[in-house]
Formats: sequence, C-alpha cells, structure tokens
Amino acid sequence: MGIPLRALTTLPLTLTLKPQRSCTNNAKIHHFQLTKTPFANKNALISCKHKNQSNRWSLDGMTALVTGGTRGIGHAIVEELAGLGAKVYTCARNEAELNKCLVGWKDEGFAVMGSVCDVSNRVDRAKLIGNVSDAFDGSLNILVNNVGTNIRKPVAEITSEDFSTLMATNFESVFHVSQLAYPLLKASKAGSIVFTSSVSGFVSLKSMSVQGATKGAINQLTKNLACEWAKDNIRSNAVAPWYIKTSMVEQVLDNKEYMEEVLSCTPLGRLGDPTEVSSLVAFLCLPASSYITGQIICVDGGMTISGFYPRND
Ligand SMILES: NC(=O)c1ccc[n+]([C@@H]2O[C@H](COP(=O)([O-])OP(=O)(O)OC[C@H]3O[C@@H](n4cnc5c(N)ncnc54)[C@H](OP(=O)(O)O)[C@@H]3O)[C@@H](O)[C@H]2O)c1
Repeated sequence: MGIPLRALTTLPLTLTLKPQRSCTNNAKIHHFQLTKTPFANKNALISCKHKNQSNRWSLDGMTALVTGGTRGIGHAIVEELAGLGAKVYTCARNEAELNKCLVGWKDEGFAVMGSVCDVSNRVDRAKLIGNVSDAFDGSLNILVNNVGTNIRKPVAEITSEDFSTLMATNFESVFHVSQLAYPLLKASKAGSIVFTSSVSGFVSLKSMSVQGATKGAINQLTKNLACEWAKDNIRSNAVAPWYIKTSMVEQVLDNKEYMEEVLSCTPLGRLGDPTEVSSLVAFLCLPASSYITGQIICVDGGMTISGFYPRND
C-alpha cells in the first residue's frame, strides 16, 4: 500500500512511496520507488536497487566523450574513465599529440578513440558528434565538456577578438556540444554531463573577468540542464578547479613570487594534480552518484572557503 506524502510537501502533486522487495536477504534495507515526480518520467524512476554493489563503482559498458583529452585535466579524465571500464572518445587540435596519446592508451589496454577537432568551431563540433555517434551506435552515457582557455588581461585591455575567443572556446562550445550530444545521451537512458568549470566562476580572480564570466555561465547552464533534461535521466554537474598542475598554467606558476601568493591563499598549501580532478569527474559519472545533479563542486584545496588567515600569526 502506498503512503501519500501530500501533507509533507508543498509540491502540487501526490508522491507515493511504494515499498519494494529488498534485493538482499537483509530485511532491514528498504527500497522505495517514486511513482511520480515533477521532472522524471516513467522511464526515469528513481530506484535504489543495489543488486550488485560493484556495478555502482564501474563504468563497464558505458561510452564517454571527453573534449581536450591529450593534456592536463582532460588527459587524466580519459584515463580515469577508461580505467573504470568506459569506452572513451576524445579530441584535440594537435593531430600528432592526439595520435601519440591514442597509441599510448592502446598499449596500456585502454579503449580510447579520437579525432582532431577545434571545439571553438561550429562545423568541427558537428563533425565530432557525428564521429562519436558512429563510434558508439548513436548512444552516449557520458559527456565531459572539458576544453577551456584563458586570456589574462584587465577589462580595459580586452579586445573584441579576446572576448570572442574566450566565449567561443569556453562557453559557446560546451553549449553547442551539449545540444548536439543530447539525442545520444537520451538514447543511452542514463546520461551524465560534467563540465570543467573553475573557481573563477565563483570568486574574482585578477585579470580573469571574461574567463570568469564564461565559467559563471557554465555553472548556470549546469543547473538548467540538470532540470531540463532530468526527464530523460540525464544528470548535469560541474567541477571547479583552482590551480592544477597542467600546461595551461605552468608559465604563470614559473613566477616564484606569484606561486607563493597562490599557495598562501590555498589552505592545503599546494597545487592540485589533474588526477585529483579526474577522480571527482569519474565519481559524478558513476551509478554511485545517480542522485546528484545540478551541482558545481570545487576542487580547490579549500581556496574558495578560506577567509582571513594571516600568514604570520
Ligand atoms: N589547470 C588549471 O589550473 C585549471 C584551473 C581551473 C579550471 N581549469 C579548466 O580545466 C580545463 C582543462 O584545462 P587544462 O589546465 O587541463 O588545460 P591544458 O593542459 O592546456 O589542456 C587542454 C587540452 O584541451 C585541448 N584543447 C585546447 N583548446 C582546444 C580547442 N579549441 N579544441 C579542442 N581541444 C582543445 C588541448 O589540446 P590542443 O591544444 O591540441 O587542442 C589539450 O588536450 C579548462 O576548461 C580550464 O579552464 C584549469
């Protein structure tokens, strides 16, 4: 018999929790099925049937697209997802570097494919999703919108070209790739999008106003897609790193004084490693995180929650 929850909620509908038969012999574990929600359709019923615990921590049989997988955070994400059993497709602009990575992954036994693509280019984006569709028979479980770039300048010095480059590479690309990938994610019946945002989408960073605005836009898109595509059982989350040791930031961190300032406002007192971002991305793609959507999680050694901590106190 169902338990009507109208009295417990302000939502204009009746939620009925039907006890399900436990999948283990342990009668203490109760499983409930939600028969009506404002977003989910019948195919996307929330179920807590954990028949096989190991499946919750595996990406076996899943397909993934990771943009910008030849270096840095994207490279770590490709290896993390492939290591958990996913078939991965990736892209980058530099063909030689991409081919070198593909050979390396093959030698390591990872199932990774890829093609050249500049995600700031509309035609390239359409070709990329066509390739992914062909490779994975029209179905995609995981989309990691990872590519992003930076141009550090005070607002007064930003040219219209700088502005267009940042918008096209960081925001227009992820918006359009998500649009193009939507039918494939829907076809998988269990889709997950993860955006690589940045702490610059939360707090003000020097000379990063436009870059920060693109990441702020990604943060809002993360939440909107989480609601709009929940009916298709597609989740949408973002990770927001602070300084991670990659080719993108090595030049700026070569400056010793600047590096000291970075460390002084990072409670953990060190830079992050790409694998410390890729582990969170993988978690957000795993069935184990199936009730998490619309979240932007900082991977920042505590930088964004740090208030006033004088160094010489
Ligand atoms: N590293 C950090 O401290 C940090 C902090 C916060 C946020 N993030 C974010 O993390 C993401 C990855 O950054 P990263 O530090 O790993 O960068 P990275 O080391 O420079 O690697 C970037 C990767 O993306 C590819 N790429 C760049 N532009 C591309 C384009 N237009 N089309 C296709 N592929 C492209 C690069 O290959 P090609 O050059 O061959 O195209 C490379 O594989 C970005 O969104 C960045 O904003 C990084």
